Amino acid sequence: MKAEDFARQQREISISEFFEKNRHLLGYDNKVKALLMIVKEGVDNALDATEEAGILPDIYVRVKEVGNEKYEIIIKDNGPGIVKKQIPRIFGKLLYGSKFHRLKQNRGQQGIGISAATLYTQLTTGEPLEIVSSTGDGKIHKYRIKINVRRNEPLIIESGVKEGVEWRGVQLRFLTEGMYREYKQSIPEYIKQTAIANPHAHIIFDSPSGRTEFNRGADSLPKHPKEIRPHLHGVELGILTRMLRETKARTLVSFLTSEFTKVGRKTAKEICLKAEIPEAKKPKTIKDEEARRLIEAVKTTKLMKPPTDCLSPLGNEKVKEGMKKELNPEWVGSITRSPEVYRGWPFQVEVCLAHGGEITNPKVMRFANRVPLLYQQGDCAITKAITGIHWKRYGFNGKGIPEEPLAIFVHLVSVWVPFTSESKEAIASYPVIIKEIKLAVQECARKLGLYLSGKRKHEFRQQRIRTFEKYAEETINAISELSGEDRERVKREFTELINSNNNISMEEENGGEEAEVSREERSQPDREEGESENRAARQVTLERLLRREERPDTDG
Ligand SMILES: Nc1ncnc2c1ncn2[C@@H]1O[C@H](COP(=O)(O)OP(=O)(O)OP(=O)(O)O)[C@@H](O)[C@H]1O
Ligand SMILES: [Mg+2]
Repeated sequence: MKAEDFARQQREISISEFFEKNRHLLGYDNKVKALLMIVKEGVDNALDATEEAGILPDIYVRVKEVGNEKYEIIIKDNGPGIVKKQIPRIFGKLLYGSKFHRLKQNRGQQGIGISAATLYTQLTTGEPLEIVSSTGDGKIHKYRIKINVRRNEPLIIESGVKEGVEWRGVQLRFLTEGMYREYKQSIPEYIKQTAIANPHAHIIFDSPSGRTEFNRGADSLPKHPKEIRPHLHGVELGILTRMLRETKARTLVSFLTSEFTKVGRKTAKEICLKAEIPEAKKPKTIKDEEARRLIEAVKTTKLMKPPTDCLSPLGNEKVKEGMKKELNPEWVGSITRSPEVYRGWPFQVEVCLAHGGEITNPKVMRFANRVPLLYQQGDCAITKAITGIHWKRYGFNGKGIPEEPLAIFVHLVSVWVPFTSESKEAIASYPVIIKEIKLAVQECARKLGLYLSGKRKHEFRQQRIRTFEKYAEETINAISELSGEDRERVKREFTELINSNNNISMEEENGGEEAEVSREERSQPDREEGESENRAARQVTLERLLRREERPDTDG
């Protein structure tokens, strides 16, 4: 073939055509997962929209079988709604959204999620997506939309408006191909984990097997994360040169202070000096070589850490509450790390470990910006961090994920989560992200290790005490006989001594650790004041008795 022949075949590819061929990249690689993806995109958007509008989310999800491998999916929220003009492009055009061009902690980022669901639906059943939306102005807009795949533009099949109805929110109705299952990586599991990570949300889920309702565990919205500018540490040459071209700042110093977070004039001047570029130079005139020098200068400049108000982790208490509510463990402990930066973007890690109780098998629960990640576990930075830990050091068997009744909850929040693909199922393995997760899990594992070794020691002592008690009767009789003391008194002293030893051992074993639902809470009566004095007195009495016990032998 000649170049001219190739030329006849070379033409632009629309993003919709690309994903029509590659729907697996968007997560639509099997029928079970497809249903999950649609529900997930709808619910994630509903949670984003309600939170951004400062509304406590009330979300309704229905999955109903309407034919052979054909399902109706309804997702309804009480969010701000979508203005009429935007409805067609939001649902009928891939790569169209409000979250891509900013740095803000959101569930969605790419502007592809919900239109991908429209695309899959029309590919499998040929049906449009039905949208009902109102901004609360008394007008309810209804659209039926498909995607013109060749042009990546919305195709309006039907539109209408109903006036005089008071309601605000968005309701989506898909008629799609799929398969409904209730195993590990399924819609019920996604909704359950979503409820754990979003205790402020009220969710009703009507599935083919009945209704499940998740009530609010918190009556206020989480802290609203602020939108931020990028952090200079980690900014790459390509991004820096584009920013230099596009900025409205007139000098290099004002460019550095206005386009990046936490850069003051003093630091900006220091960077200019190190890079040997005049402070007042116009950003647009900075050449590639100078930009390279700027990057080098930044590397050796101490910068303040990113602000924490751009990140909204759940917080130790909420994570623990969620885990206790859903898993009912014996022990639970959690850690929230300080914010860190990858590629100039802040992120933060929180980890919770729950052990024993109703947990029977090892379980890893991965979350990114409050969204549960159910697929591609092996490719995820969270799994890599966990399996890279030497669990033996903390008293667990071997490497990998320890074979314990242990649930590991890891939540990464970031102004931009680095997903490994458009389906947003796994977090990319940036070394600094793996390191942060590892440190957090290790710290929790250390606490859990202490608790478990204390528990083992306690069980061992209990065993010894039981053996001791087995021979108590005989010993009491012997002491009483040999010492001439009243048998009842010996018995009383003896019992108290056993109890006091039991209490000493428990105090030693439980010093300072985080045992949320610990065994002493469940089984021990309150101890009296002056316990230690009584204990000392009993010890003296017993020693006295034992000395008398020895007397006949020594005398004899
Ligand atoms: N229920 C909703 N209420 C209000 N606005 C919504 C709703 N669903 C979607 N939107 C708007 O539509 C846009 C596109 O949604 P879409 O899911 O396609 O992309 P995204 O959420 O921005 O990113 P991602 O592709 O990662 O999901 C959103 O950015 C948001 O502005
Ligand atoms: Mg989305």
